[in-house]
Amino acid sequence: MSRPALATLDLAALRANYAYARASHGGKAAAVLKANAYGHGAVECARALEGEADAFAVAFTEEALALRAAGIGQPILVLEGAFGMDDLELAQKNDLWLVVHQEEQLRMLESLRGGARIHAWLKVDSGMHRAGVAPDQARALWQRLNACAQVASITLMTHLASADEPGNPATDRQLAVFEAATDGLPGPRSVANSAGVLGWRGAHRDWARPGIMVYGADPRGTAS
Ligand SMILES: Cc1ncc(COP(=O)(O)O)c(C=O)c1O
Repeated sequence: MSRPALATLDLAALRANYAYARASHGGKAAAVLKANAYGHGAVECARALEGEADAFAVAFTEEALALRAAGIGQPILVLEGAFGMDDLELAQKNDLWLVVHQEEQLRMLESLRGGARIHAWLKVDSGMHRAGVAPDQARALWQRLNACAQVASITLMTHLASADEPGNPATDRQLAVFEAATDGLPGPRSVANSAGVLGWRGAHRDWARPGIMVYGADPRGTAS
């Protein structure tokens, strides 16, 4: 017996949601397609957004390779970064951007010789305590990353833990920690996930990283 439940995804709505996220935030937006586009089908969603999205973001290298295999040419940011040197080589060959959220990943980049140069996103843990370098180490790690021959550019990023709670002071604290940790360092910044795009103007920087709102949900609890 087949199950009666069926989910249909309106790809025009997906495009409109992405455009809304990008316009509300300003600057550029990497559409987050991790976890098979939150269960909606990463390749289908990437194809639907191909002409529009500045970049895509996935969690792992394998997800990025599946998009490349499907012919997706946009920049793809790997949010968990490299787990080993093989991931670095795959990033070089497939033009993937890599988050660097721990010193070990920086060491791998320091040991890389030759091949294409990689766009790195240095993730600072401003208070989520899940991944990211400690704020008081960000400056020193940025300097080391900047000295890597195979690093093409550095974007500074952080992830918000409670932006879906309007008025929660933790978000302003995170923004202040991120500012202090990165003050004076050159390069683009990226802070806002969907909740940051929708509810925290102070979190808007050069790049947004909207996920859930691209699929039509408002993380603050109301349907969009
Ligand atoms: C680093 C990072 N940025 C952005 C997002 C997208 O978040 P949201 O779905 O809340 O927009 C995620 C999702 O987990 C993430 O891990």
